[in-house]
Amino acid sequence: MALILKINSKNPEKYKVKKAAEIIRNWGLVVFPTETVYGIGADALNPDAVKKIFKAKGRPYDNPLIIHIAEKKDLYKLAKSVTKKAKRVIERFWPGPLSVVLKKSVIVSDIVTAKLGSVAIRMPDNKIALSLIKESKTPIAAPSANISGRPSATLSKHAVSELSGRVDCIIDGGKSYIGLESTVLDFTSKTPTVLRPGGVTIEQLKKVLGNVDLYSSRTKSRARSPGLKYTHYSPKAKVILVYDKDRIKKIISYYKKQRKKVGFLSYSRYKKYDADFFRYIGKDYKDIAKNLFYYFRKLDSRKIDVIVLGALEEKGLGLAIMNRLRKAADKIIK
Ligand code: TXA
Ligand code: MG
Repeated sequence: MALILKINSKNPEKYKVKKAAEIIRNWGLVVFPTETVYGIGADALNPDAVKKIFKAKGRPYDNPLIIHIAEKKDLYKLAKSVTKKAKRVIERFWPGPLSVVLKKSVIVSDIVTAKLGSVAIRMPDNKIALSLIKESKTPIAAPSANISGRPSATLSKHAVSELSGRVDCIIDGGKSYIGLESTVLDFTSKTPTVLRPGGVTIEQLKKVLGNVDLYSSRTKSRARSPGLKYTHYSPKAKVILVYDKDRIKKIISYYKKQRKKVGFLSYSRYKKYDADFFRYIGKDYKDIAKNLFYYFRKLDSRKIDVIVLGALEEKGLGLAIMNRLRKAADKIIK
């Protein structure tokens, strides 16, 4: 069983952080909080330690990891070269929910990057994460702290239920305040390209960079970000994503008639319809992003069979939320 360390997120207790850092330095795995979601971390420069992450998650080896750093200058050790545009975005958005993909330097091993010539790097905006990286005296490779294919963990207890026999230590540092994973922005192409929308929006990036492309797997034959081709974010319940709001009521009654236990995650306090489980999940996109994975897991714990959700406008954070919803959906009703 993993060692559980409850750490103060505003003022991390140094002796506890040191204990976790010691585990990282000894090739171990530590689940730690970030502002986006929890991560499973290992010493990014130790290929044998990194291998353990893939085993713990059941993650395919061709899906590369993000390396987490505590100081901007560490980017220059991990990337072969840092483009002007990349410098501009890290000045604006780091620490924060943005991972930049750049050509890798020789110290980054093939296991972290799944043999790609590039590496994804970010500086998280979370005091526990930053002090863990500093105390470990090495960058930390970390994917989201969930078994492959499941919703990312936004609370330590989610990681405990899935990973406690598979990692050495789990830090409890409260709820992740963004709730969705970082934006992955690729600088190896001519125009910077968002491979995964996330906490930093395309609109924000365009203000700093001008032109920014959004990678779409429908228009490209080869997966540029290998992670994009795998199923993702799936609760055990079937997820039904509904574009036409007026159909939601009928869809809920349809599944009820089939004797399914229906959960409805609503963007309005008042429209409960006939669902067995109803939750108002947020007044704006920020709240919805923060709560989405939390409620996916909550509904699984209530043994809900079908989760019904409405589609959102794909603006701002809505793009990242809809990206996750479409991937999680078993059925999309237009
Ligand atoms: O917010 C986050 O990014 C969280 C926290 C823990 O930092 N981490 C996270 O990691 O979501 P993960 O492993 O679940 O997702 C990493 C994504 C995958 O889609 C992967 O394919 C992509 O980043 N990626 C990593 N390295 C890449 C590279 N060199 N080129 C293209 N895509 C890359
Ligand atoms: Mg993940």
